Amino acid sequence: MTLVMIQGKIIPPQDAQVSAWDRGYYFGDGIYEVIQSYNGKLWGFDQHFRRFVRSLKEIAINNVDLEQIRGWIYQAFDAAKIPNAMIYFQITRGCAMRTHVPPADMTEPQFFLYVKPAPDNRHYVEEGIATILYEDIRWKRCDIKSLNLLPNVMASQEAARRGASEALFTTGDFINEGASSGFFGILDGKLVTRQLDNLILPSVTRQAILAIAERLDIEIIERPISIKEAFEAEELFTASSGYEIRPIIKLEDKIIGTGKPGKKTLRIIEHFIQDTRGGISFDEIVKNTRFQLLPAK
Ligand SMILES: Cc1ncc(COP(=O)(O)O)c(C=O)c1O
Repeated sequence: MTLVMIQGKIIPPQDAQVSAWDRGYYFGDGIYEVIQSYNGKLWGFDQHFRRFVRSLKEIAINNVDLEQIRGWIYQAFDAAKIPNAMIYFQITRGCAMRTHVPPADMTEPQFFLYVKPAPDNRHYVEEGIATILYEDIRWKRCDIKSLNLLPNVMASQEAARRGASEALFTTGDFINEGASSGFFGILDGKLVTRQLDNLILPSVTRQAILAIAERLDIEIIERPISIKEAFEAEELFTASSGYEIRPIIKLEDKIIGTGKPGKKTLRIIEHFIQDTRGGISFDEIVKNTRFQLLPAK
């Protein structure tokens, strides 16, 4: 049950084909997004779209008809008729002979989307996940949601090989974020997560979590978490649109906290689930928060 759209046309998944001259194919020259829907409504659509537009601007893909893209996404989502869906979409710079400087005779940006049922994440919440550390070998613009994900693929492969669900990227003594998720810790009772900068993706789920934690009167600090602090943390968790909030119960060989999903993490998850499944919009959740979605620059 997967719906596929290419350049605004809905296509049987087995017939989905793109050009070998697509710059996304040989350069990873494009931007993507992943959005969840709950009970028939796209959740945080405007926030995901804002991040998408920012990423396009940062890599100077300037000729996208954004209203058309917005329309295609809604059209595909409506046609899929999957109330709790995961929507992936990407846009590449277009097709042309391979030269680093985009040539003048390129096709228009190329859009690809698929919609499929959202994963059932309940077992992660009940059991928690194991994680590994992996040196952050990515570039210095991790705030751009680029199609180039080779380091993330390598880190995730290594995590899977070692029986873990997520790899946490480290730079020196610090953990930046997960290979496909944001990273959070409960340290001395406070919620700590890295500040928005060039070393992490400005996660949409992050802003919702910080707003929920504020509402729950949990003190929040935006700063990097050291590896040492992580090993000794009361609680740790990851967050993303697809997997939502996943408590971490193991980091490398070390059991985290009690070895079970932490109490504060579970409280945040409970509210996150109530809100998302209860029809509370993203805008409503972040209405009064002091935390930003995107970095200031
Ligand atoms: C590297 C990375 N960080 C963080 C996230 C979480 O972002 P979001 O909450 O917007 O899904 C993702 C999601 O795919 C990611 O790939």
